[in-house]
Amino acid sequence: MTKENLENINLPRHIGIIMDGNGRWAKQRGLKRSEGHKAGAQVFRNICNYAEDIGIECLTFYAFSTENWKRPAEEINAIMNLFRDYLMEAQEKEEENEEKGMRIRYIGERSGLPEDIVGMIEQLESLSAEKHKITVNLAVNYGGRDEIIHAVKKIAKRVEAGELKPEDITQEDIDGNLFTAGLPDPDLIIRPSGEYRLSNFLIWQSAYSEFWFSNILWPDFTPDDLDKAIIDYSKRNRRFGGV
Ligand code: IPE
Ligand code: IPE
Ligand code: MG
Repeated sequence: MTKENLENINLPRHIGIIMDGNGRWAKQRGLKRSEGHKAGAQVFRNICNYAEDIGIECLTFYAFSTENWKRPAEEINAIMNLFRDYLMEAQEKEEENEEKGMRIRYIGERSGLPEDIVGMIEQLESLSAEKHKITVNLAVNYGGRDEIIHAVKKIAKRVEAGELKPEDITQEDIDGNLFTAGLPDPDLIIRPSGEYRLSNFLIWQSAYSEFWFSNILWPDFTPDDLDKAIIDYSKRNRRFGGV
């Protein structure tokens, strides 16, 4: 993004990215699917750093869905190991004070993840809790429907305890009990790989999001592609139901 562009455009506050196409990228090269995930994990790091540089406030990366457990165990293990590598590396950076402005949060169902990973997530969340330049949400074992059920259960408990009347339940009650509580809704959702669907990503929060689709496979996604998506976004007319 040129400095001039940056000064003149309306940046999205929150961008959601569905990191799709790793498997097809590997297949095109005659590699194992896990090699595609490895390349994709590198692109995730680059895009995080770039987004921080240009001043994006919040990014949510969809890395593993509640439906992805249907995949072969070998592929799931490879993805979890890449997640471990990233968490370890991010923790080292925090401890050595190399990471200045990135707050890392996890969204998804922790109880379904290996215990060591949950421990690493919790440590990283607390180590980075005071960082304010950019918030990076990692959506792993995340599903939008699962997230809504989780919120509804919490609200139902308050109703059961007599703290809330069913007729008084508001959108804010739902918002406040989602994994993304406290974050702005995604302004822009990016899905590469030529698929035109959400696949259970931020289904509540995306009610008024702008979408950007592309045929690029995630491991080929570059900061220039992010620029293109942001520039397109900045030309959209968001009406939110008004005129
Ligand atoms: C996205 O890439 C990563 C995950 C869903 C974990 P895919 O693995 O879905 O890649 P394709 O869609 O098969 O190319
Ligand atoms: C969506 O991709 C989930 C992630 C990128 C983590 P999928 O590859 O799982 O989505 P479908 O199955 O094509 O809808
Ligand atoms: Mg896919």
